[in-house]
Amino acid sequence: MGETREIGVGVLGYGGVARVHVHAILRVGYSMQPPLRPVLVALCGRTASDVEAAAHRYGAPAFYTRWQDLVRDPRVEILINAAPNDLHADPCIEALRLGRHVLCEKPLARNAAEARTMASAAGTAGVVHQVSFNYRHVPAVLLARRLICEGRLGRIYHFRARYCDDSLMNAALPRTWRQERVRAGSGAAGDLASHILDLARFLVGEIAAVSAASRIFVPRRPGGAGDEEVDVEDAVVATLEFEGGAIGTLEASTFCPGRKNLLWFEISGSGGTVIFDLERLNELQVYTTGDADLGGFRTVLVTEPTHPYGAVWWPSGHILGWEHSFVHQLDGFLRAVAGEDPARVGATFDDGYRCAVLTDALLDSASAGRRVVPEA
Ligand SMILES: NC(=O)c1ccc[n+]([C@@H]2O[C@H](COP(=O)([O-])OP(=O)(O)OC[C@H]3O[C@@H](n4cnc5c(N)ncnc54)[C@H](O)[C@@H]3O)[C@@H](O)[C@H]2O)c1
Repeated sequence: MGETREIGVGVLGYGGVARVHVHAILRVGYSMQPPLRPVLVALCGRTASDVEAAAHRYGAPAFYTRWQDLVRDPRVEILINAAPNDLHADPCIEALRLGRHVLCEKPLARNAAEARTMASAAGTAGVVHQVSFNYRHVPAVLLARRLICEGRLGRIYHFRARYCDDSLMNAALPRTWRQERVRAGSGAAGDLASHILDLARFLVGEIAAVSAASRIFVPRRPGGAGDEEVDVEDAVVATLEFEGGAIGTLEASTFCPGRKNLLWFEISGSGGTVIFDLERLNELQVYTTGDADLGGFRTVLVTEPTHPYGAVWWPSGHILGWEHSFVHQLDGFLRAVAGEDPARVGATFDDGYRCAVLTDALLDSASAGRRVVPEA
C-alpha cells in the first residue's frame, strides 16, 4: 500500500472553536482514513505568548500573530479560518487567491454582500471551499436526511427548530466581539439561527420567505470604555415558508435559563415525524405512520454499523460526541481535496452565501415588521 500524502493545514485562531478543529486534524486519520493526511503546520492568534504556547501544546511547528503570514506560509495548503466573523472575508479571499483550500467557520460573513464576494472568490479559485456548518455531519442528522430523501416522511409539512442557551443572561458579562455589529454582523441570527437555516435548507429545501421578530434584552454591557452599546439582537424568532410548500418556525436565543446548547428540530410530513436534540446527539426520535400500532415515537440509537459514520468508530452503542461532527466534516473536506466525490454533505461557500441572504432577510423582516422574500 502506498504512503498517504501529507497536506499542510494552517489554523487561524487557537482558542474557542479553533481547538476542536485542531482536535479534528489530530484525530481524523485515526478512524476515518482519509486519502490525505492533514498535518498542523501553523497557528495564528493575536497574542504571541499565548499562540506560541498553543502551538507548543498542539505540536504546530510555526505560529504567527498576523493572518497574512499564516496564509502566505507555503506549507499551508488548507486554511481553517476559526477567527471572529470580521476576520472571515479578508483571510479567506487572500488564501483562495493563493490557491489554498479553505474551510471557514460559520457564519461565512457578516452579511450577504460580504458572503457574495467570498463565494465569488471561491468560485474563481477552483479549490475546495466549505463552511463549518458542522451539524450536517452528526449521524442522527444524516439519518433524518436519509429518511426524508427516501420519502419515508412523505410530503414535508412542518419544520420547527430552536437554538437556545443561557450564555448572555448575566447582564454583568463584558461586551465581546459577538455583541458588536461591526465585528459580528449580527447576534443570535448569525451566531445561532444560521445553524438552523443551514439545517433547514439541508433537510427540507430552499426557503422562499421569512417573517421575524428580534429583541435586544440587555442594551449595554461593561467594556473597555465603561458601559458600551450592544447593537445586535439577543434573540430572534421567525416563521419560514419553504419553496416546497412546508412551513416552519425558528427560535434562537441566548436568554433561556437552563438551556446550555439546545439545538433541537422536529420535522413532520405525511408519513411521519423526526425529532433531534443536540444534547442527545446519538439519538433520533422517529415516528412513521406505519408504526401507528405502536402509538408513539421510537428512540433510535444512531450507532449501528449501518448508520451514517457508524462503521468507522466504536462498537454499537459506544456513543459519539460533538467533536466527532468536526472530524467527519474534515474527512469530507479532505476527500473533496483529493478529488473523491462522495455524496456531498459539507456546506460550500455558496451554501454559506445563501445562509447569509436568509440571515439578512430575518434581520430586515424584524426591523421592518413585515414578511420578506429573500433575494434569489
Ligand atoms: N461551528 C460551530 O459550532 C462554532 C462554534 C463556536 C464558534 N463558531 C464560529 O467560530 C468563529 C470563532 O468563534 P470563537 O467562539 O472560537 O471565538 P473566540 O473569540 O473564542 O476565538 C477567536 C480566535 O481568533 C483569534 N483572533 C482574534 N482576532 C485575531 C486577529 N486579529 N489576528 C489573529 N487571530 C485573531 C483569537 O486569538 C482566538 O483564537 C466565529 O465565526 C463563530 O461564529 C462556530
